[in-house]
Amino acid sequence: MIYLDNAATTWPKPEETIKAIEDCIRNNGANPGRGGHTMSLSAGRIVFETREALARLFNAGDPARIVFTGNATEALNLALKGVLKPGDHVITSSMEHNAIARPLHVLKKKGVDVTELPCSSQGFLDPGDVSKAVRRNTRAVVVLHASNVTGTIMPVKEIGQITREKGIIFIVDAAQTAGLLDLDVEKMNIDLLAFTGHKSLYGPQGTGGLFIREGIELEPLIEGGTGSRSESLEQPEDMPDRFESGTPNTPGIAGLGAGIRFIISRGIDQIRSHKHRLMARFLDGLKQMKKIEIYGPGDPAVQVPVISINVKEQDSSEIAFILDKVFHIACRSGLHCAPMAHKTIGTLDRGAVRFSFSIFNTEEDVDRTLDALERTVAELP
Ligand SMILES: Cc1ncc(COP(=O)(O)O)c(C=O)c1O
Repeated sequence: MIYLDNAATTWPKPEETIKAIEDCIRNNGANPGRGGHTMSLSAGRIVFETREALARLFNAGDPARIVFTGNATEALNLALKGVLKPGDHVITSSMEHNAIARPLHVLKKKGVDVTELPCSSQGFLDPGDVSKAVRRNTRAVVVLHASNVTGTIMPVKEIGQITREKGIIFIVDAAQTAGLLDLDVEKMNIDLLAFTGHKSLYGPQGTGGLFIREGIELEPLIEGGTGSRSESLEQPEDMPDRFESGTPNTPGIAGLGAGIRFIISRGIDQIRSHKHRLMARFLDGLKQMKKIEIYGPGDPAVQVPVISINVKEQDSSEIAFILDKVFHIACRSGLHCAPMAHKTIGTLDRGAVRFSFSIFNTEEDVDRTLDALERTVAELP
C-alpha cells in the first residue's frame, strides 16, 4: 500500500517509536509523579525527557512550560477557553481547522467577539489585515502555521511582531508543522503553541501539547489529581501540574520522545528536503496532466507537503475510493475538518483529494500515484 495520508497521521511510525512504547509498557509501566518507588521515578524521567526535548525543539526555555494533552485539539481548546472571556475580541483566519473554528463558535455564543479574516484563494493571510482588525478589546490572535488543506504557510513571524507590539496574545496551531518547519517561540513571539505528537513528530496518536509562555494567564480545562500538593482542594499553580490532571499517557509520551529523537537523528532539514523533493515531483507531474485542478500555491517554496486536487467534475470521495480500491493508494477526500478553508478555496461542495508525504515515502510512490491518477482520468467519461 502507498500511504499518502500523513497530514492526518504519519504511518508507518519509526521502529524507534514502536520500541519505546513497548519498552515503557513492559519495563516502566508505573504511574509517573505519583509515587517514590523506582519504577514511578523512571516513568517520570521518560515524561520529563520528552518535555525537555519539546522545549528544546521550540526554543521554549523551561521544560515545565510544555504541558501534555491528548492531541492538538485539546491543546487548542485549553488555549482558547483558558484565555478568552465574554467581551474579549479574537482575530482568526478563514483557513482554520475545526480544532480552532468549533471552540471559537462555542465562545462566540458566550459573548466572545470573533473576527475571521478572509484569506486568498490560495490560502494566504495578509498580516496587514491582522493589524487593521485589532481593536481596543482584542485579546488574542489565533492562526494555524500551515494549512492542512492547501499546505499554505502562514506569515506567523510577521503576525507575531504585530501581536507583540500591540500586547495581544498570539496562539499558533502547529499541528501540520511541529517537527517539519522551524518553530521558535521566542523569534516568532508565540505565546501559546499547540502541537500534535502523531504527525511530523512521528509519535503515536493520543499525544500532543501546549507551550504556555510565562506570564500568560490561563484557566485549566480540567482539575484533579496531579500527584502534587494533594492536601489542598485548590488546583496547584505549579507548572506543568496546573494543566495536567489525571494519569498521563506515559507510553504515548515515551513514543513521542523517541519520535523526536528520530527526527533529530535523521536531521529535520534532511527530512524537510526529502519531502520537499517529493512534493515538487508530484506537483510537476500533476501540472502536466489535463483535467486536474490543483488547489493552494502549487509552489514548494511556500507550502508544506500537503497537496489537494480535484479531477474533472468528480466528487473527491469517488477519486479517493478508486485510488484506494484499485491502486492501493491511501489519500484523504472530503473537507479535512476544515470547511472554512474549503469555502476559501472554492471546494465546499465536493471537497478535495489530499495527498501528504512523510519521510518514509519515495519517488516511486509519487510516480505510481501520478500514473494511477492518469489512468483514473483516462477511464472517466
Ligand atoms: C491544522 C490542524 N489543526 C489541528 C488539527 C487537530 O489535530 P489532532 O487531531 O491531533 O487534535 C489538525 C489535524 O489534522 C490539523 O491539521
